[in-house]
Amino acid sequence: MLTDRDKPRSDALVFFGITGDLAYKKIFPALYAMAGRGRLGVPVIGVARSPWTVSQLRERASQSISERFREVNQQNLAAVAERLRFVSGDYADPALYAELSKELGGAERPLYYLAVPPSVFPVVVKRLAESGCAKGARVILEKPFGRNLSSARELNAILRQAFEEPDIYRIDHYLGKEPVQNLLLFRFANTFLEPIWNRNYIESVQITMAEKFGVQGRGRFYEEAGAIRDVIQNHLLQIVSFLAMEPPATSYHESARDEQVKVFRTIRPLEPENLVRGQFQGYQQQQGVAPDSRVETFAAARLWIESWRWEGVPFFVRTGKCLPATTTEVLVKLKRPPLIRLAAGETNYVRFRLSPDVSISIGARVKRPGEQMISDPSELSFVHQPKGDEMDAYERLLGDAMQGDPTLFARQDGVEAAWAVVEPILDLPSQPLEYLPGSWGPVEAERLADDVGGWHCPNCVEGSSG
Ligand code: BG6
Repeated sequence: MLTDRDKPRSDALVFFGITGDLAYKKIFPALYAMAGRGRLGVPVIGVARSPWTVSQLRERASQSISERFREVNQQNLAAVAERLRFVSGDYADPALYAELSKELGGAERPLYYLAVPPSVFPVVVKRLAESGCAKGARVILEKPFGRNLSSARELNAILRQAFEEPDIYRIDHYLGKEPVQNLLLFRFANTFLEPIWNRNYIESVQITMAEKFGVQGRGRFYEEAGAIRDVIQNHLLQIVSFLAMEPPATSYHESARDEQVKVFRTIRPLEPENLVRGQFQGYQQQQGVAPDSRVETFAAARLWIESWRWEGVPFFVRTGKCLPATTTEVLVKLKRPPLIRLAAGETNYVRFRLSPDVSISIGARVKRPGEQMISDPSELSFVHQPKGDEMDAYERLLGDAMQGDPTLFARQDGVEAAWAVVEPILDLPSQPLEYLPGSWGPVEAERLADDVGGWHCPNCVEGSSG
C-alpha cells in the first residue's frame, strides 16, 4: 500500500489520560516495543488528573510491560522509563497547559494522544490551542468518533478549531492489524484473484467477528455503544472496504483512503429488515447495565454495495459477545460452475482467518479416487507462522502517526460515510432477541443468510451453519 512517510517525525509524545486502561493495556507495551526497535527516541509526557509522581507512572509502565511480555528486556524497559515525564491537573485549568508547555521544551511537532472521555475533548482541544501547544502538532483520538452522524460532525468541528485534517489521526486499531492489511495486499498482489473478484464470480461475502467473552466489566461503556456502534460502524466496515475497494492508484498518498471512502458511500444505508439484533441472556444483570436494557450484544446484517463491481452480491457481517469462540474470519464464496454433478456440495471459496491464528485458504474440489466422477472439497492454505517480532496494531499505528503517515487511520469523510450506513439502525426501539451464551446468536439471524447456504461457522470442522 502506498504510504506517506516523508514528513517530519514527531518530537514529543503527550498522552492525555495516561493513568487509564488504554495506556496500561496498549500504550506502554507499544512504547516498550518501539524502544526495542530503537524507534522511541522522544520524550513521553503523561497527563492526567490524578496527582501521581513520575515514579508512580514508571512503576505503572513497568507493571503493564511485565504483564504483557513473558521476558522483559531491562534495557528497553529502562529506555521507556527514562523518557517518561508527568504533568497532572485539571484538564480545564490553563496552568496545566503552561506546565505542559514547559515540559515540551523546544518540541516543534508534538503528538497528542487524547485518551480522555469525549465530554472532556472540547476543553482539552481549546486549551491546547489557546496555550499555543497545538502549533505544528498532531493529534490521535480513539473511537467512538461521535455517536452518530451529527455528533461525529460536531466532534470534528471541535478538533478543527486547533488541528488541520491531515494532522488528525483517528485510530481504528483493526487497520493496524497485519492480517487486515493482508486482505488488501493479497487481493492486489496476486494476479489470479483480481479477474474473479467481482459480481460475475463471487456469490457472497461473509465476515464473522465472534467473541467468547461478555462485556468484561465494561457494562457502562457498552450500554452507550452496543455491537453496532462498538464494532460494525468501524472495524467491520473497514474490513468490508478492504475486501470491496478498487485498486488504489500508486501516484498519490490518499488514494487508499479515497477508495475506502468510496466503498462506504456506495453501501446502501442499512434497513431494519436486513438486520437481526440479539442480547445474550444475563446481559441485563451485568454491572453498569440497565435492568431493561435494549442494547444489542449481537448483530448480524446483510449489506448491499451499489457499485459496478458488487451489484447483487450480498455482504454479510455478524458480531457478538458470548458466542462459542473468539475468532474473526472472512469467507468469500464463489459461484458454482455449470456442471453441477461434478461439483455438488461446497463451492470454491477464499477464506481469510484474521484471528486468533492467521491464514488464507482457497477451497477447491478435487476428484474422489474411484470410478465415479465426483469431487471432494479440499483446501489450499497459506499459513502465517508468526516469528514473534510482528508489530502489534498499536505499535504500528503510534509509529505511523509519529511519522505523519495517516494511511491506516480513519479520515473524517470515511467516518461520516460509515455513520450514514448504520444511521437508520441506531437506537431501534425494539428489544433485541435473547440468545444463550455460547450459542451463535438468535436463531432468527440464520434467515438472513438462508439464500447463500447459511452462515459459515469459523470454528466448525464441516462447512457451514452457525
Ligand atoms: C474494540 C471493542 O474496539 O475491539 C471491543 O470496543 C472489542 O468490544 C475489541 O472486544 C476487539 O478487538 P480485538 O483486537 O481483540 O479483536
